[in-house]
Amino acid sequence: MNSRITMTIALLLIALSGSFGQQPLKADKTDTAGAPARYGFGRIAAPAEIVRWDIDVRPDGKGLPPGKGDVVSGKVLYLAKCAVCHGNNETSLSNLKLPAPVLVSDTVAGSRPKAIGNYWPYATTLFDYVRRTMPYNQPGSLTDNEVYSLTAYLLHANKIIKSNTVLNASNLPKIVMPAKKLFVMDDRKGGPEIK
Ligand code: HEC
Repeated sequence: MNSRITMTIALLLIALSGSFGQQPLKADKTDTAGAPARYGFGRIAAPAEIVRWDIDVRPDGKGLPPGKGDVVSGKVLYLAKCAVCHGNNETSLSNLKLPAPVLVSDTVAGSRPKAIGNYWPYATTLFDYVRRTMPYNQPGSLTDNEVYSLTAYLLHANKIIKSNTVLNASNLPKIVMPAKKLFVMDDRKGGPEIK
């Protein structure tokens, strides 16, 4: 028998012998009893490394960085860095098959396509999402001011803020999105309640 097959069979047997007749794993304190405190690899993450990952922005604005952005600069950025995938929001898109979702809708609940104006419950999510994921081919490349400007442009294009609004960490969380009312907190306690 060739040695690779022998090895595969041996590994299979080891795997099987471990899984038969075993109780389901229980997460209790005894799981880690006797385990060493360190395994001799890895290191504590440096504060500067944690800061680079710690970029979540919450609905109440917690986590928004300093900076500001306006609609006009946002439109310039959008046309340069986003329109290639999302469309320019002005010409009719009905004949185009875009590689990315449409970002502009009306603000009427239930209308289609589902987009920022008729479906997103919090304005701060737009900042968070664009900062961490877009442009799709170069996430993390935008400055905070650029993200504020893109957020301002997209909120204006969705008819949610005026063209002269300058967005920052204090006024962005105060914007009430048209779709906020479509979302309710899930306060079920268990059992058969259905919302
Ligand atoms: C290379 C193509 C590409 C580029 C460039 C790009 N996007 Fe996207 N974008 C996508 C794709 C694909 C998705 C859908 C991702 C998914 O659903 O997982 C998306 C999703 C989004 C969404 C969420 C839409 C929704 O309702 O779910 C937003 C907002 C967005 N992009 C903003 C931007 C902005 C702002 C820029 C420019 C800075 C940009 N994108 C550039 C491809 C792109």
